[in-house]
Amino acid sequence: MGNAITYGHRGASKYAPENTFSSYIKAVEMGADGIEIDVHKSKDGHLIVCHDEKVDRTTNGKGFIKDLSLKEIKALDAGSWFSKDFIGEKVPLLEEVLEFVKKEDILLNIEVKNGPIFYDKIEEDVINVVKAYDLVEQTIISSFNHYSLAYIKNIAKEFKTGILYIAGMLEPWEYAKSVGASAIHPLFLTINKEVVKQCQQNGIKVNPFTVNGEEELKLMKLFNVDGVITDCPDICKKIFHD
Ligand code: G3P
Ligand code: MG
Repeated sequence: MGNAITYGHRGASKYAPENTFSSYIKAVEMGADGIEIDVHKSKDGHLIVCHDEKVDRTTNGKGFIKDLSLKEIKALDAGSWFSKDFIGEKVPLLEEVLEFVKKEDILLNIEVKNGPIFYDKIEEDVINVVKAYDLVEQTIISSFNHYSLAYIKNIAKEFKTGILYIAGMLEPWEYAKSVGASAIHPLFLTINKEVVKQCQQNGIKVNPFTVNGEEELKLMKLFNVDGVITDCPDICKKIFHD
């Protein structure tokens, strides 16, 4: 049974506040091959790494990212909601994460959040900054907004894309091929061994999310998936190495 790429979901988000540098550093320390991050756009057009459309849950601030400036976002504490050990953590910019990815020489899965809040030209902005850091090879862009993914393939076909979905999709490899995607990023509960096999025979990789428990990780290993998006890179590495 082959190994799989371990992507730390929002870093090692079981152990440190999601989408912060503490979380990314922990993921790397635990042996993750890459990290998964979520990207939105601020009021003044900066690419902000945060899961939700609002900063409320993961910082001490309030409001939609689209209504806040970079200065306002950078003034927030993104760690104390998780534990007092992380007081002072900042919300990262995509550029800062790219710098880290380059330094650590790891893989990157950028999830473009584009809906229910829609960000003007977020696809172009993400592409341009990844190109500027010369990280196209190491990066895969995913999204639940498949219009965004199709658009990215149209304007920059050198980028790899992964279609995110949570429903049990019929013949996802056909759909993936039709939008030029390199991979599917399904909710792990929706796949089986046959789907993985068919995808791989059609040149489509399978990177399920978010797989945290030992039993679920063992099942993904049995399915022979290409990658796993997990909050627990340590457990994932252990299961896939056993
Ligand atoms: O990219 C995998 C996963 O992050 C997708 O869902 O809501 O955790 O961003 P979500
Ligand atoms: Mg995500």
